[in-house]
Amino acid sequence: MATKVRIAPSILSADFLHLGDELESVSNADYIHYDVMDGDYVPNISFGPGILRAVKRGTDLPVDVHMMVSNPDETFRDYLDAGADILTFHLETAKHAHRMVDEIHKQGRLASVAINPGTAVWALDAIIDCLDMVLIMSVNPGFSGQKFIEHTYTQLRKLTELCKSHSVRPLVEVDGGVSAANAAQVVATGADVLVGGSAVFDADDHAKAVDDMRQAGMRGLEMRGQ
Ligand code: DX5
Ligand code: ZN
Repeated sequence: MATKVRIAPSILSADFLHLGDELESVSNADYIHYDVMDGDYVPNISFGPGILRAVKRGTDLPVDVHMMVSNPDETFRDYLDAGADILTFHLETAKHAHRMVDEIHKQGRLASVAINPGTAVWALDAIIDCLDMVLIMSVNPGFSGQKFIEHTYTQLRKLTELCKSHSVRPLVEVDGGVSAANAAQVVATGADVLVGGSAVFDADDHAKAVDDMRQAGMRGLEMRGQ
């Protein structure tokens, strides 16, 4: 049972020219969120395993790798080799989801599955028992700075029900359009991990933006009664 709110700044919104300083500026966070985009599954290209190795050298925080690619079965090992601590692939893209989860676990890392706003939460039914984390997309993947989709609250409620019916409690991460303004409601509805891209890196003080999101999230945890 989660008793804290974890903040995962997404370096997709960071200043790539000064990535080391940007990582340093969010050292009060819980994870670094690393968005992999291939220009095929999503209409944007970000970074691959090479930059992940550099990021691992630039932070002590666990790195939460979010793969938005068409062929994760073929490439996920590259991210494990590069040091991914949590590895998320999209359910919509997986050829053999259980095989990937097993391999992730064999390497001692955490396995997570993401679903899009347009995917029904019950699609996780066959795999939820094996997951350490579920990532609920609250925007259509591809870009930072998009508006939070309100239907996410329904997705979160359905995920809570699904987890209860399986007697499991994976971490629940929400990604896209999250800020201190909606963090309390997002956590109150079931999130444990909040990704913050533009909300963190567009702020003047990144560390304060992380703290503000966490504080707002903690209010949500109280509303949830934990
Ligand atoms: C979107 C990415 C997100 C993105 C979040 O496809 O998966 O992680 O960086 O950025 P914000 O918080 O600005 O929506
Ligand atoms: Zn992401």
